[in-house]
Amino acid sequence: MHTPAEDKAPCYLYEEASIRSACQELKKNLPGFSFLYSIKTNPFEPVVRTVCEEGFGADAASVREVLESRACGIPAERIFFSAPGRTAKDFRSVWGQCLIVADSLHELDLLQEIAAGRQVTVEVGIRVHPLFVMGEGSRSPSKFGIDLEDLPALKQKLLACPNLKVVGMHVHLKSQVLDTDVIAQYYKDVFQTAQMLEEECGLHFRFLNFGSGIGVTYDALRDHPVDLERLQALTKEMQELNAKTLKAELIIESGRFVICKAGRYLTRIVDKKVSQGKTYLIVTNGMNGFLRPALASLVAKVSKGQPVGAMEPLYTGSSEFELHVLNDNPRQETVTVVGNLCTAMDVIASDVTLNAAEIGDVIEITNAGSYAYSLSVLTFSSQPLPGQYLHTTDDQYLAE
Ligand SMILES: Cc1ncc(COP(=O)(O)O)c(C=O)c1O
Repeated sequence: MHTPAEDKAPCYLYEEASIRSACQELKKNLPGFSFLYSIKTNPFEPVVRTVCEEGFGADAASVREVLESRACGIPAERIFFSAPGRTAKDFRSVWGQCLIVADSLHELDLLQEIAAGRQVTVEVGIRVHPLFVMGEGSRSPSKFGIDLEDLPALKQKLLACPNLKVVGMHVHLKSQVLDTDVIAQYYKDVFQTAQMLEEECGLHFRFLNFGSGIGVTYDALRDHPVDLERLQALTKEMQELNAKTLKAELIIESGRFVICKAGRYLTRIVDKKVSQGKTYLIVTNGMNGFLRPALASLVAKVSKGQPVGAMEPLYTGSSEFELHVLNDNPRQETVTVVGNLCTAMDVIASDVTLNAAEIGDVIEITNAGSYAYSLSVLTFSSQPLPGQYLHTTDDQYLAE
């Protein structure tokens, strides 16, 4: 018998209980921090509302994300608008609706011009490209933030911006990090950078935004979860020092930790055929519903078995999700699951062994809550879009 959720396929299904429990895990284990939800991860309105009911503010990366956060009831002072490459028009569209974090010296100029024109002093943050790296690797050029190599240029710019009051600092270097010690060291390095900037530039930070980093275990055999309790313990000294010195609000951004595992993608088998002995299950909305499997197949093909690093958020690894046929057929069958687009790239999984399936059965893909709907090529071939539903704790399916 089909569940109500299966009847809605093709669709994304997000579990409210799971979203709330991920939020609560962060809050409980990291009591010295406050949290922002990175809307870009999954901007589906009922999801955003649920996360903000848990007390999260918004990490918004576009004008639309700012305005949608406002529409979800998040107060302006809890919406942090940080992204590279914005225009004066963007800033005017969200003026007074969020705290703007300047990503470059040019953005400071734009903000100064608008504030001066309105004869106001406006509070802003600055995103910096720090002098350290997170974990392994060497420091490299970045399009994000203001380079701290050239501190005199920043100091000079701030002097030329009398209508701006810099009240916070933002850093984000990596996503999907699972090494607790690496995240803890990164937080400490960010804190030290803030201390240095306060001193050098005569600033007083009300908030320090550490960006994201905390990853999820996509593959239970390969990945070990971040130990949040240990992260709290490792950063306790830094938090105590902050309480005595900077007295800044310590903020963590999180997208995928909150929503990745709460989401499943369900799609329906519309054809089954055999070509030269190979069995294909053809589903609706393959890469035009959930792109990540097609990308994983592409990377596997191109890399010819060589290990490939993550390219967040498009590609994380080769085993980011599980695939199930939602029937209780005890017979197994080796199949290749493909979408119905006119491209051979539209592959979900090759030669996988699943419950033997028939046309009409539903295929479920796990770990589909983050960077999924919004990163898929939804409009390719003008096919209908998959639905999105929040399955609430009182068993409703909210569509918008
Ligand atoms: C600035 C910033 N903050 C937060 C995030 C969210 O990362 P995650 O979804 O891994 O938590 C991203 C993701 O790219 C980001 O660029």
